[in-house]
Amino acid sequence: MTSSLLRDEADRVYLEEWTAGRRSCIWQFNALYWSALDLWEKATGRGYEQALPGGESDARNRTAAADLIGELMAIWDRLDKVNALPEELYVVELGVGNGNQAKVFLDEFREMDVRHGRGYYERLHYLMCDYSAHVLELARETVADHSERVSTLALDATKPRTALSFLRGKVFLVYISNVYDNLPTDEVAQLGGRTYQVQTRAYLPDEKAAELAESVSITVEKLPGLVDKLLRLGPGLLVDACPANFSGLDAAVRFWQDIWGALRLEERYVPLEGLDTYQVTETLTGEVLRPMLESGTDVRMHVNNGAVASFDDTLTLLHPYGKLVCHDLFVTDVDGYHTTFRGPGKYDGSVVNWVNGPLLSHIGRRRGFDIHLEPFRHRGGNIVTMTAQLRD
Ligand SMILES: C[S@@+](CC[C@H](N)C(=O)[O-])C[C@H]1O[C@@H](n2cnc3c(N)ncnc32)[C@H](O)[C@@H]1O
Repeated sequence: MTSSLLRDEADRVYLEEWTAGRRSCIWQFNALYWSALDLWEKATGRGYEQALPGGESDARNRTAAADLIGELMAIWDRLDKVNALPEELYVVELGVGNGNQAKVFLDEFREMDVRHGRGYYERLHYLMCDYSAHVLELARETVADHSERVSTLALDATKPRTALSFLRGKVFLVYISNVYDNLPTDEVAQLGGRTYQVQTRAYLPDEKAAELAESVSITVEKLPGLVDKLLRLGPGLLVDACPANFSGLDAAVRFWQDIWGALRLEERYVPLEGLDTYQVTETLTGEVLRPMLESGTDVRMHVNNGAVASFDDTLTLLHPYGKLVCHDLFVTDVDGYHTTFRGPGKYDGSVVNWVNGPLLSHIGRRRGFDIHLEPFRHRGGNIVTMTAQLRD
């Protein structure tokens, strides 16, 4: 982010230069939301789950958890029969939120294990992973009853292998819900036979910027610099760094929420010179986008760079009989991009974009996995479940 004020004829106060969607400062806002969730929720009086599709997380659904655990136990029984079941039974969850999913899973698992009678609970290692230390602490408290079976790991979900490489080929279940839609993404478009990248830049409408600057006793010119400080320090340290601008923590949190509420994105289309020159992730080039971009009609779609990197990395962690299960807002075919706006949008202080299901499926299949996308079975609504399992 720049600290200088940029303006153009449109009377907007810019918070950054033109950039690819995944590099926009909106992702710093997103990370700040999860790291200072307690402050945000205290100010709004609402928990983050109320902003999720349908007002609660499908991660809490007991029947869904029981189905999954039943499948796992059946696989373990079969492996055990031929002496191929490892002693340690690993389950990884990425992006744990308040830990409710982990709790439902672990409660259900313990009960089913008693009925099943094979002692799998004692061998279970449930790894809760998130990039927010605050969220991990919340989740740890939620599953305190299972503390012997649970570890927490601070990691970036876009690079799970950096912290989890010791689990390569060992994980029986990777569970992810409402996280891929929350990871940084670019957008690309195919228009009239040419490929474009959609670049964005965050701005505040002039009038709103003037109000916000006045509320913290600075000039509009200084506003982008103060926003930059907020994103680097968080509201708590911002009060210490700028006592002349904030009377206390509540004022700094209000400033954060007001800036986020006013922030908008401007966009432009920049020609992409060859898909092979565009890096989707460190290891995948834009060539993986070709089947969707060249499907016949003009289209604009998400690249979901963060989700693609996460997914690609995660597949390497799976045991040959392991499974990845992901509940999220998936677009299930390219046509889905023709009909409806798919983000970026705001969920309270966080960012949401629908996830490009055909792209993830294409990448998974190239890696030798069967990929299925189907509407979440246990509740109506927009949520789709993606599963990935090594092809027989
Ligand atoms: C919308 S919440 C979903 C929480 C929970 N899975 C559920 O369904 O209720 C998104 C979670 O992903 C985490 N998250 C977002 N981006 C992340 C990243 N790059 N690395 C690790 N965790 C991330 C957030 O901290 C938050 O806990």
